[in-house]
Amino acid sequence: MCGIFGYIGHQSSLPILVEGLRRLEYRGYDSTGVGLHDGETINVHKTVGKVNNLKQVLPKEANATMGIAHTRWATHGGVTQENTHPHASYDGKVLLVHNGIIENYRPLRAKLISKGIELQSETDSEVLAHMIGLELENGASPQDSVRNMLKRVRGTWGICVMFLDHDLLLCARNGSPLIIGQGDGEMFVSSDPHPLTSHTQRVVYLEDGDMATVTRTSIKVASKQGRSIQTNVQTLEDSWAESELGDAPHYMFKEIYEQPDALRHCITGRVDREMGTGRLGGMRLAHSTLVQAPHVRLLGCGTAAFAAEIGQMLIEKMARIPAVTHIASEYRNNDPIINTKAIYLAVSQSGETADTISAIKEIKLKGGQVFGVVNVVGSTIARLCGQGVYIHSGPEQSVASTKAFTNMVGALTVFSMQLGRSRNMSKEQGRELIQQLQQAPHLMEAYFEDVGPIDEAVDLLANAKSVLYLGRGLSAPVAKEGALKLMELAYIPCLAYPAGEMKHGPMALLEEGSPVVVVAPSDHLKEKTLLAIHECKARGAKIILIHEKGDAIAEEGDVSIAIPKIHPWLTPLLTVLPLQLMAYRTAVRLGKDVDRPRNLAKSVTVE
Ligand code: M6R
Repeated sequence: MCGIFGYIGHQSSLPILVEGLRRLEYRGYDSTGVGLHDGETINVHKTVGKVNNLKQVLPKEANATMGIAHTRWATHGGVTQENTHPHASYDGKVLLVHNGIIENYRPLRAKLISKGIELQSETDSEVLAHMIGLELENGASPQDSVRNMLKRVRGTWGICVMFLDHDLLLCARNGSPLIIGQGDGEMFVSSDPHPLTSHTQRVVYLEDGDMATVTRTSIKVASKQGRSIQTNVQTLEDSWAESELGDAPHYMFKEIYEQPDALRHCITGRVDREMGTGRLGGMRLAHSTLVQAPHVRLLGCGTAAFAAEIGQMLIEKMARIPAVTHIASEYRNNDPIINTKAIYLAVSQSGETADTISAIKEIKLKGGQVFGVVNVVGSTIARLCGQGVYIHSGPEQSVASTKAFTNMVGALTVFSMQLGRSRNMSKEQGRELIQQLQQAPHLMEAYFEDVGPIDEAVDLLANAKSVLYLGRGLSAPVAKEGALKLMELAYIPCLAYPAGEMKHGPMALLEEGSPVVVVAPSDHLKEKTLLAIHECKARGAKIILIHEKGDAIAEEGDVSIAIPKIHPWLTPLLTVLPLQLMAYRTAVRLGKDVDRPRNLAKSVTVE
């Protein structure tokens, strides 16, 4: 969602800000703007649309060594130039960019209007700029004006503020991430690590409630109350640097094909072949917790929730203890009962998903222990949990999640093994699984050498009114993931059901020629899935079948796509690949914006 980038230093800020915005594009946005400070004046340039549109309205050069920039994903007010950030105070002395939502902005807005201030936009963010302006006018310092303003607002924020009469940037965070990059005689502010890597590896993560004064040579962090806090400079992970598109046509294409290497990265050094178990050091799981935990709860949204559902089944299979997945956006609102001895896993690619963060806070408030299963190192969820496992997918920039899904499944497989071996699972079973898991990246590569008749599947999907996805057991969440991918990329309504549920309702949708995607690896449920295939075919449906190579079930599909044979518990790592490719190629065929589907954002940082 919205992205912030700021710069103060010795270089011309304009190209740095534009490049920062470009690197934030993947988060999803609908308008963008920059504010430049040349030591005497502040100039603002904004536009609806993409960073490329902004470039057209920017000056060729600007003599400004300080500036703030923003990509906006509309929440309050439509996609208009007026609503685009940065927002200025009534007197032009304050310029502000904001991520998050100000809940009490209506009364604050009314109060400003009663003071004769004319608001220029419909946003909640603009009120913040005016409130700071009023504080400054009353003689407060920049720090106190921001602090006093923050005392009166409710909601979430990551803000970066620039002042006409002061040579500094002020940043504050509550619920929306902000990271400050430390250079030599220059500083950078960003809402995620990705745009910082080309400038510096040294970063300071702001925590909720922090406020930072950023000058060319210093970063001073203080609490809401003004108490100074030790500045903790950390080093960014190298892998964030490998995030350029290169020769690939789209990030999604690149990321689909990165899955074998990403999975290798995820499992390497985390399995013990001799003992047949997983070793997740970062989980810091006490043996007693592993042995005594009464159950496991997994939380996530979208793709992460589907990976969690697979993790749930693997935990039950390997450790024989109950596991349940919860949609994180529902969790907090249902006043959940927390067992302090249970293990809670929060699954997230970005580590910034607001719904998942709320769920974690609810569990922690009630005394539960939450472990992160996260991709982005140093992200809010990773730090909030303080323990867990990084899935090490590397940067995922396409809004549609692909390599994070397989690595979430990979990491949860290793976790299940560790839990299983501490309880019921035999060493032999563990060894066999490890051997197969280590084979999985090779098998992914083998599949990519011959992906099968994906284009024939696209022929059936591209003009469909709706598509039904079916699977059973571990393949049911894979079917959901395939349906989500096609729906978000090609805007085709898709339904995913456990195959047995089909006759309890969804079957009513079937007409002559309706495409039904069936995920049917050679596991113990295959014969039952076959029944559903026959029922669909009897009603004229066209079957796109994902099956294991050499299996006679291939004959049942109108389009049959073979994946290599693997241990039945590891099939999701392979069956999802053709579903990703089908969604990708359908979207390309339909001329959709594959990496940035309409209305969606990569990091969903508001509830
Ligand atoms: O960053 P997260 O994994 O927490 O994100 C969760 C969902 O927003 C995300 O998986 C979303 O569903 C993707 N667009 C799916 O491709």
